[in-house]
Amino acid sequence: MNVLVLGSGGREHALSHKISQSSKLSKLFIAPGNGGTHALGENVSLNIEDAAEVGAFVKANAIDIVVIGPEAPLVAGVHDGLKSDPELSSLIVVGPRQAAAELEGSKDFAKEFMMRHNIPTAAYQTFTRDTLTEGQAFLETLDAPYVLKADGLAAGKGVLIIEDLDEAKEELKNMLVDAKFGDASSRVVIEEFLAGIEFSIFALTDGRGGYVILPEAKDYKRIGEGDTGLNTGGMGAVSPVPFFDAALRERTVKEIIDPTIKGLVKDNLPYQGFVFFGLINTSKGPKVIEYNVRMGDPETEVVIPRLETDLIDLFVAMDNGTLGDIDLQVHP
Ligand code: AMP
Ligand code: GLY
Repeated sequence: MNVLVLGSGGREHALSHKISQSSKLSKLFIAPGNGGTHALGENVSLNIEDAAEVGAFVKANAIDIVVIGPEAPLVAGVHDGLKSDPELSSLIVVGPRQAAAELEGSKDFAKEFMMRHNIPTAAYQTFTRDTLTEGQAFLETLDAPYVLKADGLAAGKGVLIIEDLDEAKEELKNMLVDAKFGDASSRVVIEEFLAGIEFSIFALTDGRGGYVILPEAKDYKRIGEGDTGLNTGGMGAVSPVPFFDAALRERTVKEIIDPTIKGLVKDNLPYQGFVFFGLINTSKGPKVIEYNVRMGDPETEVVIPRLETDLIDLFVAMDNGTLGDIDLQVHP
């Protein structure tokens, strides 16, 4: 099969590396790719948020599978754009459609989804410019630290955790009224602060209730040596995660992963692709910090190499709706 991977990160390199090992692979393209992917396939220059441009390349190169790496093209609806072309009806696209990508594209949408399906997460309320005063009053009812989240995509920078109440009120105004994060902060989710240790779980789902759970990971976000300094998108990651034992796994599957996958089906959210569960283990058990609709970067670099099952086989099973039948093989 011919495969096109969209993206240019370490994530796309790790995915391409695994795909390049498949006996099912004929030709691998990466758009735009990077110096690492260059050694595994052919890097091609495409605007990956432009479905028409990607679709034309897919047709010209008889691509069978498109793997959408980052969130921006998913939230922009590139999957939907590709599938709106009748000539691409049998193309396998890894990554949800736009309606389902809102799980990452809007924090408020994700919180409502979790409420609807009884999935444990921080208590919250959402505010807009018109309800700034109510938002500031809501902050007064909470204990420090205060968690403010821009509703939309902000490249991992849209979350503020603030100790001081007056500063939190001021930042809420900066976000809602002064557009601190542009359009992304025209709505702000204010959340209860959760104390605990974070970890991440990844699943691949077929959108019909079938899924496989990939190896877990933990990324380290602070820029300085010894976990100090400002947050980044992730400086490095580990898998396996030492504290993710059988009991925590069982609880996470029962209370979070199962209800999420079932919730997608119940809500008719068209989701074939990777689900990234950003989790925190609190004194009251695991809770969801956020959903991402893609693999993590750098987490992919430690998760995907542990797979012994062929990745192209998984993508084909995803398309056939038979992921539930797969006995995933993972290297310890
Ligand atoms: P997010 O973009 O939602 O993943 O948030 C970025 C980071 O902020 C997370 O990785 C957590 O470290 C932290 N964070 C987000 N929400 C909360 C919360 N409710 N309680 C404590 N920390 C949080
Ligand atoms: N490493 C966190 C992320 O990919 O969102």
